[in-house]
Amino acid sequence: MADDIGEALRVEILGAQHDRSAFESGIEPLDRYFRVQAGQDARKNMAAPFVLVLSDGTVAGYYTLSSTAVNLWDLPEKTARKLPRYPLVPATLLGRLAVDRRHQGKGYGRFLLADALFRAVRSEIASFAVVVDAKDDNARRFYERESFLSFPDQPMKLFRPMADIEQLFK
Ligand SMILES: CC(C)(COP(=O)(O)OP(=O)(O)OC[C@H]1O[C@@H](n2cnc3c(N)ncnc32)[C@H](O)[C@@H]1OP(=O)(O)O)[C@@H](O)C(=O)NCCC(=O)NCCS
Repeated sequence: MADDIGEALRVEILGAQHDRSAFESGIEPLDRYFRVQAGQDARKNMAAPFVLVLSDGTVAGYYTLSSTAVNLWDLPEKTARKLPRYPLVPATLLGRLAVDRRHQGKGYGRFLLADALFRAVRSEIASFAVVVDAKDDNARRFYERESFLSFPDQPMKLFRPMADIEQLFK
């Protein structure tokens, strides 16, 4: 776990003070997004980027949150049956999550995910679940280990109900 290694970790809203130029997760689109697009998305209210900052100021990871909606009948039938028949269900999109490859495997990804879930659950805006689009099978496995469930017909799209996330932080 991140806190086992004694490193003081901070999660901050992305700002001009954060050096993004050296960030490298190993997945080029995620790196390019962070370097080129994340600031603009923040300014235009398309996504809220958050960065993981180490004690020496290094940016070791980032994620983005925004609002989204899912089609009621894309959810597992068992889940959908219990919900009101609104065609669109409000959700929170964890659009991107990446850890610099020099720092992968230290628990930072799990730490960032927990931070994202905590921000999502704390919001006063109603949201049924946190939703992610896994970029590849590794990412999908990472989320499955963190109790995310796949959408029945879209195995790379996963969700974790807010009611479940609430239990996590009780
Ligand atoms: C996926 C990613 C965010 C994980 O971050 P990380 O800091 O390396 O992961 P952690 O050290 O917090 O590991 C958390 C758990 O996930 C597991 N895990 C980490 N990376 C994994 C992977 N690629 N596949 C499967 N499991 C993985 C770890 O083994 C650990 O579980 P354990 O404690 O039971 O052993 C990071 O490797 C990354 O940025 N990868 C490239 C970008 C990417 O794929 N992003 C996913 C969003 S689409």
